[in-house]
Amino acid sequence: MKWIIADDYEALSLAAARMLLDALEAKPDIVLGLPTGRTPERMYERVVSECRSRYRCFSGVTTFNLDEYVGIPPEHPGSYATYVREHLVRHVEISPDRVHIPEGTAATVLSSSAYLTFREALERECERYEQLITDAGGLELTFLGLGRNGHIGFNEPGAAFDSRTRVVQLTESTRAANAPHFPDGDVPEEALTMGIATILSSRRIVLLASGSAKHDAVERLASGELDIDFPASALNLHDDVTVIADRAAAAGTPHLPEQR
Ligand code: GLP
Repeated sequence: MKWIIADDYEALSLAAARMLLDALEAKPDIVLGLPTGRTPERMYERVVSECRSRYRCFSGVTTFNLDEYVGIPPEHPGSYATYVREHLVRHVEISPDRVHIPEGTAATVLSSSAYLTFREALERECERYEQLITDAGGLELTFLGLGRNGHIGFNEPGAAFDSRTRVVQLTESTRAANAPHFPDGDVPEEALTMGIATILSSRRIVLLASGSAKHDAVERLASGELDIDFPASALNLHDDVTVIADRAAAAGTPHLPEQR
């Protein structure tokens, strides 16, 4: 695991954006795994603005979002479909059929098989999503945020390291952290998420961690342990992971091999 310690959130975002843009320049038809959350917001902003002036970058790109809430339609303001539309897709030239987000309503599956229960349709949606990733040639570069409890995507503590895209229950702490996106108080209890094995299948992985709220999780990640109760620790099984943390997230972390 390679570590980059950025001075602050702005520097972290710049470093992450540069990695993404360099990857696009090296391979204009790259297949990306993309995160949501507050942490990558500024990275997307920087990518969008650089992309406009320096690169015509997204026209050949295929994207796969890590996760989506169950039961939330893509138009919902709190959906991750809305997130990726607002932070990236509507600002760059990317073909809509190359933008993939698990469907929390399983609409595509239900439109072709009317006799399924919603639960069965969600399970088929997860299989469909895995197949789409395979058909695209697999994930080449995946960016991740980090939950305070170490979740990646929506793989909460206890998620098997060999898990694939599936329906998961959200923990109360994750629901509380994401509640601001659901001002009516109706925070989803379940989500569809790429599994840990799906994430680990990406050829390169970049994890972003910003702010003191992530400090404990960063410290645990840096310890090198493997523990299914700390999902991000699965990244220790991968040979091409870069963590970009800002000083607030990494402060005093004893195990960091290299501080820059
Ligand atoms: C959500 C997302 C995760 C993300 C996490 C951290 O739970 N499903 O993929 O990493 O939030 O978000 P933030 O960056 O807002 O702390």
